[in-house]
Amino acid sequence: MTIHLKSLPEIEKMRIAGKLASEVLDFIAPFVKPGITTDKLDSLCYDYMVNTQKTIPAPLNYAPPGYSPYPKSICTSVNHQVCHGVPGEKKLKAGDIINIDVTVIKDGYHGDTSRMYYVGEPLIQARRLCEITYESMWRGIEEIKPGRHLGDVGYAIQKFSESFGYSVVREFCGHGIGTKFHEEPQVLHYGHSGTGLQLKAGMIFTVEPMINAGKASIRQLADGWTIVTKDHSLSAQWEHTVLVTETGYEVLTLSIGAPSKPTFHS
Ligand code: MF3
Ligand code: CO
Ligand code: CO
Repeated sequence: MTIHLKSLPEIEKMRIAGKLASEVLDFIAPFVKPGITTDKLDSLCYDYMVNTQKTIPAPLNYAPPGYSPYPKSICTSVNHQVCHGVPGEKKLKAGDIINIDVTVIKDGYHGDTSRMYYVGEPLIQARRLCEITYESMWRGIEEIKPGRHLGDVGYAIQKFSESFGYSVVREFCGHGIGTKFHEEPQVLHYGHSGTGLQLKAGMIFTVEPMINAGKASIRQLADGWTIVTKDHSLSAQWEHTVLVTETGYEVLTLSIGAPSKPTFHS
C-alpha cells in the first residue's frame, strides 16, 4: 500500500479546497427548510460552487468501477438514507434529518465534508443520533497523530456509538483524498486499537462515520447510488477531511459555520 504524503504546497491547496467545501455547507444551511426539494438544494449548491466559488462539484458524473455516473452535484441523505442519497423532487418535511455531503475540487485538489441538518424541530431520538454521530466522528479524529494506527480511529468511533445501542455501517468508509476523490488508505469506522496502518505526518484522509439507530445492514436503491438502512431505522453521518501533523491533526474542512468540537460525554 502506497500512501502519498502531501508536500507543503499540496497541503496549502488542500486547506483551500477544504475550507471551500465547508463554506458550501454554510451557504446551504438557511435553505434547509420544510417544503424545499433536495433537487433545489442541489441546484443552489451547484450555482454557488461553479459561479461564486469557481470550484468543481466532484460528485457530478463521478463513476467509480461498477457505478453509473453520479447525476448530481451533492449527496442528500434523508432519515433512513445512509449515504449517497441522490437529490430529487421530494420535498423535505418538518422533523426530517438530512445529511448534505459536499466535495469540491479547487486547483486540482479535493475537499470533502458533510453535516447533518434538522428540518424544523427533530424528534428527540433523531437529535440524539445526530449528536452522538457527531461526537463519534470527533472521538475518531482525536486519535489522529503520528504513530497511532487507523484501528485506533475506528475503535474510538465504534466503542462510543455502540455504547448507545447504535450500529456502525461497515460497507463504506473514510478515504485518503488529494488530487483524487478517493485514495488509499481506507479508513474503517470500526476496528481494534493498535491495528492497521500507522499514521505519518502529511497523510490526509476523511473520517466520515455512518451510524444507524437500528441494525447495521444496508441496501442500495434501484437508482444505483442511494444507500438505505434495511430495517428503515434512522441513520446519521458527519465528515471531515483531516491532515496528520507532526503533533496531532489539523481539520481542513472548517469554516465560520462549521459546528465546533463537542464536549465529550464522560
Ligand atoms: N462524498 C462522498 C464521500 O464522502 C462520496 C460521494 S460519491 C458520489 O466519500 F458520487 F455519490 F458523490
Ligand atoms: Co468522503
Ligand atoms: Co463526502
